[in-house]
Amino acid sequence: MLTFTTSSLAALLLLAPVASSVSVAENFLETLRTPRPFHAQSSPNRNRTCVAESHNDLKTDDAENILKAVQDCNNGGHVIFAEKQTYTIASPLNLTGLSSVDLDIQGTLSFPSDNLTYWQANSFDLQYQNATSFFILGGSDINVYGSGTVQGNGQVWWDEYVNNKKLKRPVLFAIVGLEGGSVSSIKLRNSPFWHNIIANSSDVVYSGLDLFSTSNNGNFEKNTDGWDIYRSERITIENSTITNGDDCVSFKPNSTSILVQNLHCNGTHGISVGSLGQYPSRIDYVEDILVRNISMYNSSEGARIKVWPDAYSEKSASLTGGGGRGLVRNVTYDGMFLDNVDYGLTITQCYGQDDEEECFQHPSKLNITDVTFRNIRGRTNRVFSPIVGHLVCSSPHTCSGILAENVDIRTINGSNLVTCRNVDESTLGGLNCTDWSKGYNPA
Ligand SMILES: *[C@@H]1O[C@H](CO)[C@@H](O)[C@H](O)[C@H]1NC(C)=O
Ligand SMILES: *[C@@H]1O[C@H](CO)[C@@H](O)[C@H](O)[C@H]1NC(C)=O
Ligand SMILES: *[C@@H]1O[C@H](CO)[C@@H](O)[C@H](O)[C@H]1NC(C)=O
Ligand SMILES: *[C@@H]1O[C@H](CO)[C@@H](O)[C@H](O)[C@H]1NC(C)=O
Ligand SMILES: *[C@@H]1O[C@H](CO)[C@@H](O)[C@H](O)[C@H]1NC(C)=O
Ligand SMILES: *[C@@H]1O[C@H](CO)[C@@H](O)[C@H](O)[C@H]1NC(C)=O
Ligand SMILES: *[C@@H]1O[C@H](CO)[C@@H](O)[C@H](O)[C@H]1NC(C)=O
Ligand SMILES: *[C@@H]1O[C@H](CO)[C@@H](O)[C@H](O)[C@H]1NC(C)=O
Ligand SMILES: *[C@@H]1O[C@H](CO)[C@@H](O)[C@H](O)[C@H]1NC(C)=O
Ligand SMILES: *[C@@H]1O[C@H](CO)[C@@H](O)[C@H](O)[C@H]1NC(C)=O
Ligand SMILES: *[C@@H]1O[C@H](CO)[C@@H](O)[C@H](O)[C@H]1NC(C)=O
Ligand SMILES: *[C@@H]1O[C@H](CO)[C@@H](O)[C@H](O)[C@H]1NC(C)=O
Repeated sequence: MLTFTTSSLAALLLLAPVASSVSVAENFLETLRTPRPFHAQSSPNRNRTCVAESHNDLKTDDAENILKAVQDCNNGGHVIFAEKQTYTIASPLNLTGLSSVDLDIQGTLSFPSDNLTYWQANSFDLQYQNATSFFILGGSDINVYGSGTVQGNGQVWWDEYVNNKKLKRPVLFAIVGLEGGSVSSIKLRNSPFWHNIIANSSDVVYSGLDLFSTSNNGNFEKNTDGWDIYRSERITIENSTITNGDDCVSFKPNSTSILVQNLHCNGTHGISVGSLGQYPSRIDYVEDILVRNISMYNSSEGARIKVWPDAYSEKSASLTGGGGRGLVRNVTYDGMFLDNVDYGLTITQCYGQDDEEECFQHPSKLNITDVTFRNIRGRTNRVFSPIVGHLVCSSPHTCSGILAENVDIRTINGSNLVTCRNVDESTLGGLNCTDWSKGYNPA
């Protein structure tokens, strides 16, 4: 069945030669499609086109229009979000359980922030770290592309968070339970919280994204991580640019077989494993991670692994926990250029805890093994000078196989000291280890 619904399109269709209307219309709609990106071409070609209708008035909710277009084109179709149209999404949008559909975002999807109370009651609960979202997208064989924008209007959220630390801020782009698919070329702007979560998913590629969220006042764009991966495997994140105020990419519990490459990260908190071990009843695994060719500018961290000790702590209202079990295994950082970062390398098993001694007393139950830092160079800033890295395990038994090769990180004064404790220095490739610690970076 064919669906075309925008009035502007209807007008255009009248100008098209009208012979056998359905096939003519479908042929015409096909000309409006963004070509499928290279990495989406292995999924079957889409055989119908739907155009989502928009009120385009920046206030009336278009969620139902979107749901209709996506349902009409589910199982083999291509949904166009038309160029120059703004789709306002003012109610939760459940796009899970889809199969073989392409979402071609040429226009703008915008999530209004005029009623944060509404979203407190109506967003999706992602069941991890109180994260919520405006919409959830999942199913199998779904490709999202186009040159459009997803606008989170985050400033209002960042402002309100300063007064209300319990405010549940939505993730801008939430993928939950997607098996096979891709997200590419779109722009994500002003995310209230993390830009992307990918949960309960496998075989998904993110490529060519442009993420940008910075505050225009003194209220920081807090927790605007680029990507958080949770309970997912075989995920690729590549060829993207990120400017934000938290991790560029973060591997949360049970992220396995992940490739992250060719990213330009600016203002971030680095590429981070964790935090892990926050919840005592849980077992967290992060395994088989390859991170390569990353440029890291104006960041608190470069390559970082952060796990909680085996002791409960309450660093702030939103940062409490400790005591969880698990394993970080086979993580490689290969190729990273650093400019103006606080620490280039970090391992801490003392996350969430201010007192390092407390962590040595209560060694983490989250072991770290087979971690390689290779081909990492660049410049740190004055924050921890003369120290450029912090590799501190909570006991000699909780970390093993930590390797460094061809690492040359210096402060602007040229010093290259790295705090090393409870790690085997013989495999650290000549890092200039010292016992002197200025603590891990709480950022
Ligand atoms: C359209 O594609 C779907 C999924 O690939 C397929 O099941 C369906 O048979 C196709 N329909 C037509 C008319 O080709
Ligand atoms: C979303 O829709 C799917 C499919 O219709 C349904 O199974 C699921 O329960 C819904 N999820 C939520 C959180 O509403
Ligand atoms: C905001 O949303 C709440 C909860 O849905 C509702 O009760 C209230 O009337 C809304 N306020 C405005 C100004 O729309
Ligand atoms: C992910 O899967 C788990 C286990 O099936 C389920 O309990 C959880 O609700 C799912 N997460 C989300 C965000 O739907
Ligand atoms: C969620 O938020 C509540 C209230 O702010 C807090 O007590 C709880 O610890 C948080 N849960 C998680 C899993 O972070
Ligand atoms: C990402 O960039 C690399 C290097 O430029 C290129 O080889 C690769 O094809 C790109 N990936 C995608 C999915 O476009
Ligand atoms: C490394 O990443 C940069 C983008 O930050 C890209 O321009 C370059 O082509 C990548 N190099 C390789 C070898 O893929
Ligand atoms: C980082 O982002 C700021 C805007 O917040 C911009 O002025 C600066 O040029 C960017 N730097 C790099 C290296 O991308
Ligand atoms: C992670 O995987 C382990 C092993 O399969 C499982 O025991 C644990 O419950 C998982 N944790 C989460 C958060 O899904
Ligand atoms: C380590 O992880 C990489 C990247 O996912 C993978 O290619 C490699 O096979 C893994 N090695 C081991 C020993 O598991
Ligand atoms: C962590 O290391 C300790 C000490 O070597 C060992 O007893 C424990 O089994 C390890 N735990 C995991 C999950 O590998
Ligand atoms: C290690 O750091 C000290 C203090 O900055 C410096 O004097 C020494 O030359 C460094 N050693 C190496 C091998 O870089």
